[in-house]
Amino acid sequence: MSEEYEPEATRRDAGYTESSRASRGWWDRNADDYQVDHGSFLGDDRFVWGPEGLDEVEAELLGPAEDLKGLDILEIGAGAAQCSRWLAGQGARPVALDLSHRQLQHGLRIGGGIPLVQADAGVLPFRDGSFDLACSAYGAIPFVADPVKVFREVRRVLRPGGRWVFSTTHPIRWAFPDEPGPEGLTVSASYFDRTPYVEQDEEGNATYVEHHRTLGDRVRDVVASGFRLVDLVEPQWPAWNTSEWGGWSPLRGNLIPGSTIFVCERD
Ligand SMILES: C[S@@+](CC[C@H](N)C(=O)[O-])C[C@H]1O[C@@H](n2cnc3c(N)ncnc32)[C@H](O)[C@@H]1O
Repeated sequence: MSEEYEPEATRRDAGYTESSRASRGWWDRNADDYQVDHGSFLGDDRFVWGPEGLDEVEAELLGPAEDLKGLDILEIGAGAAQCSRWLAGQGARPVALDLSHRQLQHGLRIGGGIPLVQADAGVLPFRDGSFDLACSAYGAIPFVADPVKVFREVRRVLRPGGRWVFSTTHPIRWAFPDEPGPEGLTVSASYFDRTPYVEQDEEGNATYVEHHRTLGDRVRDVVASGFRLVDLVEPQWPAWNTSEWGGWSPLRGNLIPGSTIFVCERD
């Protein structure tokens, strides 16, 4: 693919392997820009659930911070491991897993001694029952073709009673253009059309893929994987947050939800 080539954006099917390969390449190529653009908003050792800026310190979706001490925690799609660094600061033992080598190199650059693992969220390289808790702030879930495969893996590596908390794009956003301004407020596609968004090169190879699930699909995926859904959080856009993040903006955030956070437990 030539450097100047602009990928073509389309809607077409994309399976698990093709999506995973595209994600790995895209995040390796774009990790440097991502960390420059969003690193200061994320903070090196904060746990931010998404572009609204909801912080785990106030949300306590993993439980009270003082109860995290001594827990084995898996962070999925950890990027530069900012959330894991916050977890380590609470006395937990986090492991930060990501598909992208370059994202994990940023984790090394920031430091903190967090164990970093390069792997796909659908094939977790851990024994059954290795963790007390698993979490993901927008890591992997928006990009995988088969979220049930990932959730089953997460369930397998969790101990009984373990919690799985993940954030992802709010499904309603699929129906709107991914634009921060007023053009992002008019429905332009069917919420019910699950055909993936794909960017592809001249040969038709996917270079970026996003998968859509309706809210009902997500609930069914969680339950089909053997979890109980204990909360579904739709963070409101706070007055202090004047930053835009791609299609997430104060304008849209005040009118429609941008993120969902699923709080799940296994028996
Ligand atoms: C939007 S970033 C979120 C990272 C971090 N939580 C943050 O807030 O910056 C998404 C991350 O998911 C990772 N990712 C995408 N697909 C993945 C997969 N199948 N398995 C593991 N990680 C994946 C990407 O490499 C990327 O680092």
